[in-house]
Amino acid sequence: MTVAALGPQRIASRIKLKEQSIRTKMLDIAAGLEDVIALGRGDPDFDTPAHIVEAGQKALGNGATHYTHPAGLPALREAISAYLKADCGADYGADEIVVTAGAQEAMFCAMLALIEPGDEVIVPSPGYNTYHQHIELAGGKVVILPLAFENDFALTAEALEKVLTPRSRMICLINPSNPSGTVTPPEEVEKVARLAVERDLILVSDEIYSKLVFDGHRVLSPASLPGLKERTITINGFSKAYAMTGWRIGYFAAPKPLAAAMTEIHHGLAICAAAVSQHAALAALTGPQDCVAMMRDTYDERRRVTCAALDAMGVPYATPGGAFYIYAKVGATGLPASEFCLRLLEEERVMLFPGTLYGDHTDDFVRLSLLQPKDRLIEATERMGRFVQQLAA
Ligand SMILES: Cc1ncc(COP(=O)(O)O)c(C=O)c1O
Repeated sequence: MTVAALGPQRIASRIKLKEQSIRTKMLDIAAGLEDVIALGRGDPDFDTPAHIVEAGQKALGNGATHYTHPAGLPALREAISAYLKADCGADYGADEIVVTAGAQEAMFCAMLALIEPGDEVIVPSPGYNTYHQHIELAGGKVVILPLAFENDFALTAEALEKVLTPRSRMICLINPSNPSGTVTPPEEVEKVARLAVERDLILVSDEIYSKLVFDGHRVLSPASLPGLKERTITINGFSKAYAMTGWRIGYFAAPKPLAAAMTEIHHGLAICAAAVSQHAALAALTGPQDCVAMMRDTYDERRRVTCAALDAMGVPYATPGGAFYIYAKVGATGLPASEFCLRLLEEERVMLFPGTLYGDHTDDFVRLSLLQPKDRLIEATERMGRFVQQLAA
């Protein structure tokens, strides 16, 4: 009997092999170019603050080279519980917290543990599309909650109600949003929470950008509302606020019975989060927070500079209240956003990602991440302005 070669026909049918992702294509093109200004990925340009790195190094020296408890180091879970109580008003005990390999793994645990085949999970669009993959791998059905550019892609309970059906099981709230930076106002979070109770939905609250808000915006954690903790999975992590993407460390908080089921999934995926990263995360949460304020203020300054440059070139965008992205509408230049991004990269060596990666079916939007020093951002917007002018000519 001949053994079939390991070709694409051997890939499981749950993998939807599409053409090469435009993200990969652009990263490949950029690798062959000089002096590219990368405003694509959501990876802070700051290195992890020194005291956090030192805590990791010290922990390694002290033997943190083993598995930990699957749910994470008790001291870290206590610190997360204290943070959620003090900063978010959410009363999760340490035994309701599970430390994961980034918020990404926490999302996957939630879907694998709580979604039955055919359950509908509502996700905002534009939004963080990894949710789609996780929902589908869990056998669930992605239901898009379309948000409108006209009101800065704000998520509203009114829009949510329109997409609910008897099969609706879960709603994912990403606040502030990736890719638009939109902060859902507290009063709207309250309405969404009320709807979740009325319709018996699980609420996944992804708060990974919650420390990075500007202009006096406030992120309301739904788990802080009366009766909501019982149905809310709060997801957060250290990647964005503490510039710790490479440590792969995050967590979820969930009511005890759900946390127990989700821990089993987490154990199957990772056994536990890396011990060294857990010690570093403990230092991040319990150490000085001025590093977070410094990075947030820097992102804010970059946001203002970039918004001003987009205003000057006549490119509209959703006003970002948080995170470190600007979601801009380039459709009026005459090019679909994906072609705009490819040509901007090839002709002006600026890398942005098209909104199609975040659910934009019109192919009109691009996401700029503000993760370059101010002078490089200014240079990037000058190059982009030149490109937009050429298109107009
Ligand atoms: C909204 C959102 N959630 C989760 C993640 C995953 O973050 P982590 O690095 O903690 O896995 C990201 C990363 O970009 C994100 O934008």
